[in-house]
Amino acid sequence: MSFDRSIKIAPSILSADFANFGAEIQAIEAQGADWVHIDVMDGHFVPNLTFGPPAVKAFRPHVKTVMDVHLMITPVDPYIQAYADAGADILTAHIEAGAHTHRTLQAIRAAGMKAGVALNPGTPADAVEHLLDLTDLVCVMTVNPGFGGQKFIDMTNKIRKLRSMIGDRPIHIEIDGGVDPKTAPLVAAAGADVLVAGSAVFKGGSVDNPDVYGANIKAVRSAAESATS
Ligand code: DX5
Ligand code: ZN
Repeated sequence: MSFDRSIKIAPSILSADFANFGAEIQAIEAQGADWVHIDVMDGHFVPNLTFGPPAVKAFRPHVKTVMDVHLMITPVDPYIQAYADAGADILTAHIEAGAHTHRTLQAIRAAGMKAGVALNPGTPADAVEHLLDLTDLVCVMTVNPGFGGQKFIDMTNKIRKLRSMIGDRPIHIEIDGGVDPKTAPLVAAAGADVLVAGSAVFKGGSVDNPDVYGANIKAVRSAAESATS
């Protein structure tokens, strides 16, 4: 994976048809998705349960772009190798998921993946200051994690602060939750480059009507790009 700060759209398959993940992934990639975002939830760190390593491994052959795995689980460390074996390109853990995120990020890189750290809305930007040199991506949650389709929480001040803390370091700022053509320009202008979008990409489309995914992706991308140019 080469690094750049161009806008990347990462559809979250949390909003896909759960009986048809392979075809859904192929459809969003054919329609212009840059990355595929996979939300792993444990029913404990967040009040919802999705899928684990065997499912993620089954998605892998369908993902030709970047498999971006967002862990909303605790503990994280016992599962890092399983997600490496499942083929994750980026593995993101929440800073709130344990006392030793520094060690977790080292372990993710040691297992051969890019390391991401996610911040809940209540966690300040400063919390990651001493983790940045171990980090390839900071995920700023703009909803409380657990469900798709929630209302966007404005975190633009936090994003701006992170962007300035990061400086020239090759670290992505990813935004997750409530991203749509209205909110995308706000976060892009503040310095985000990876936009996760679940409901805004999947709404109105299906594998039999994939052009809608393409139009939805394009709408988020053009809104974001218009704020950065
Ligand atoms: C929230 C997940 C998100 C979610 C985004 O817990 O991490 O990735 O699927 O969904 P939307 O875009 O619908 O807010
Ligand atoms: Zn996510």
